[in-house]
Amino acid sequence: MDITYLETERLTLRRFTSDDADLLIELDSDAAVMRYLTGGHPTAPDIVREQHLPNIIAGYERWRGDLGLFAAYEKDGGAFIGWFCLRPEPQGPLDEAELGYRLRQAAWGKGYATEVSRALLGRAFTRLGIRMVWAETMAVNHGSRNIMEKLGMTLTATILTPPDMEMVEGSEHGGVRYEITKEQWLQQ
Ligand SMILES: CC(C)(COP(=O)(O)OP(=O)(O)OC[C@H]1O[C@@H](n2cnc3c(N)ncnc32)[C@H](O)[C@@H]1OP(=O)(O)O)[C@@H](O)C(=O)NCCC(=O)NCCS
Repeated sequence: MDITYLETERLTLRRFTSDDADLLIELDSDAAVMRYLTGGHPTAPDIVREQHLPNIIAGYERWRGDLGLFAAYEKDGGAFIGWFCLRPEPQGPLDEAELGYRLRQAAWGKGYATEVSRALLGRAFTRLGIRMVWAETMAVNHGSRNIMEKLGMTLTATILTPPDMEMVEGSEHGGVRYEITKEQWLQQ
């Protein structure tokens, strides 16, 4: 089975496999990566092995490989740099998808998140029948917001901080939601 999902100029996205728990555990153990997600706390390895990774793999079946959360690797040298997701909400409509990204620190500042996210929007709107792509982050997560803005997404709502994130630095500023519709994307 071909597990390649997407290729960009510098990166390849592939399905995660059941052997990849250590990649996710290492990614989520960096306090800088987790700063605006958990306040810097690592994800427990058992949670990754028993919940996160099985959910990711179940998603490939559920969305027939069209949508989900995918591992990103540099074409030059093959290093794992993190993950990207493009997927509906668990109970949400299939023509609306969330865009997400989480990269290792070593991969920050190279334009990778923008490069892959652009390609994901193109795929969503030209091949997958998606009508709207959305993304949410903490208001103070400027790196994440910059990507959304560079992609031409529009700030559509401010959101309350969920109770389990109230201890995260900057949580008093709440969160933001950005969206882009197929029509908006076509007009760019
Ligand atoms: C957010 C994240 C994905 C950015 O990835 P990246 O590949 O470094 O982003 P890019 O290089 O494509 O940068 C996009 C733009 O944002 C800017 N930017 C990136 N990180 C930034 C930061 N921390 N503060 C301010 N601007 C930032 C870049 O300069 C670039 O703008 P420019 O092209 O005008 O210079 C990465 O830092 C990350 O994985 N962080 C931890 C996990 C996380 O917070 N994920 C988002 C949760 S919603």
